[in-house]
Amino acid sequence: MVNQILHDHLAEYVLPDRVHNIDDLPWVPQGEQVWFKPLRFDLVNGRWVNLLRVTKAGKVNRHRHSAQVLGFCLHGTWQYAERDWIARPGSFVFEPPGDVHTLLVDGSEEMQTLFLLEGTIQYMDDDNRLISEDNVFTKLDRYLAYCREHSLNALDLRY
Ligand SMILES: [Fe+2]
Repeated sequence: MVNQILHDHLAEYVLPDRVHNIDDLPWVPQGEQVWFKPLRFDLVNGRWVNLLRVTKAGKVNRHRHSAQVLGFCLHGTWQYAERDWIARPGSFVFEPPGDVHTLLVDGSEEMQTLFLLEGTIQYMDDDNRLISEDNVFTKLDRYLAYCREHSLNALDLRY
């Protein structure tokens, strides 16, 4: 009985399924030799999913995460300056809340990694002074601004 009621009203309480092809989404510049390709912006929970791409030698400046990060390396290799492991294709990475790191790519080949993020990313200098912050809203803004600037039809990734 309860299951039947849930089934009958499921569409009212859960999000419908979605599918995108990554070829229909742009690489949005994030820094020197660094781009992200957004896949989902979950504004309710402050989470987002993006591919990260680094060509040639590049880095994502030192930063701290307020929440966990999950990553899955698809192409190339990368590492954190603060760690001794190297992520390779097939590496699954967990970063706990509060983790501070600097993502480095040596430039021998292009790197692409799928990241599932939430909360806030705080970019810091070497003395732990805050430089800037990113979250699901700033990432969404960057995506929409890039689409506007390049006259691209922005797919609605807010779900
Ligand atoms: Fe990070």
